[in-house]
Amino acid sequence: MIDGIADRQDITLEELRILLETADEKSIGYLKKLASDKAHETYGNQVFIRGLIEFTNYCKNDCLYCGIRHSNKNADRYRLTDEQIMSCCESGYELGFRTFVLQGGEDPYYTDDRVCAIVAAIKEKYPDCAVTLSIGEKSKESYQRFFDAGADRYLLRHETANEEHYRRLHPKEMSLANRKRCLWDLKEIGYQVGCGFMVGSPGQTIETLYEDLKFIKDLKPHMVGIGPFISQKDTPFADEPSGTMERTLRLLSIIRLIHPKVLLPATTALGTIHPKGRELGIQSGANVVMPNLSPVNVRDKYKLYDNKICTGDEAAECRYCMENRMKSIGYQVVVSRGDFAG
Ligand code: 5AD
Ligand code: FES
Repeated sequence: MIDGIADRQDITLEELRILLETADEKSIGYLKKLASDKAHETYGNQVFIRGLIEFTNYCKNDCLYCGIRHSNKNADRYRLTDEQIMSCCESGYELGFRTFVLQGGEDPYYTDDRVCAIVAAIKEKYPDCAVTLSIGEKSKESYQRFFDAGADRYLLRHETANEEHYRRLHPKEMSLANRKRCLWDLKEIGYQVGCGFMVGSPGQTIETLYEDLKFIKDLKPHMVGIGPFISQKDTPFADEPSGTMERTLRLLSIIRLIHPKVLLPATTALGTIHPKGRELGIQSGANVVMPNLSPVNVRDKYKLYDNKICTGDEAAECRYCMENRMKSIGYQVVVSRGDFAG
């Protein structure tokens, strides 16, 4: 069955159910092995690194799962200045990062003009680097302006491709239709686009996951970000159980098999629920890691979920920690933009 999924680059609902529910360690071992072999075919033993700069934790949205949601009065809000952002890039560049990911809440302070100015400044100083934006839902015009200013990639997890599930996770002002519209617009403009979802979010079922996989087949994104849902104590989901590492690993493998060339990160959330989560993610078919470049004094404020790792570590520490972690499993972190290989 697993070979069939790899050959067809597609999966049925029943196959998904079996792979997510089985306790047969042998077949799951085979699934992960096949997926990491598949990643090797395109990317060898190289792992791409992205420097993540969490530049604002202000957010106008109120997603029920997220620790920086607007109505979380306990969040200690911050914004990085342009100078701080440039200095993150500077130390990141010296450490060998050639992709900078600017991630933030949907913060109205960052008007299109401000975003464009930041992107242009980074691209001017580091023309050999890719800039990835992860700043939420915008109009097509805004996305076009960021692209024209030099942005190369855009991450916007769709969170779930099922309408009812989407409504359970988000306030009524938000819609799955608009989320999808954004992703299609981004693709049309010419970005390398990333969608994705949390594993184990409240209300998620095998059926909704199947819809996520169908959406990925349909959109054909360049990147897919998945990580376990981890409850955050100041959100309405504070008492909901977190997603599991095992289900996340199986889904990483399945995504690799049905969409072989995709850029697939072993996420910080995966590293948060298990000390070897990121290594195991790579060994299940992931090929990207995204160490944090944000200044240490703001790190513990960008708390989408509880117990986030690396909040006390300098950029250099994470960079070398990651290199060692990857070496320990036979992979090499590379100094390159790490573009989609399609
Ligand atoms: N647990 C895990 N991931 C989360 N995200 C937001 N809140 C949580 C949480 N509690 C993810 C969302 C978002 C990305 C930036 O972080 O999927 O798109
Ligand atoms: Fe941050 Fe290991 S990656 S300390």
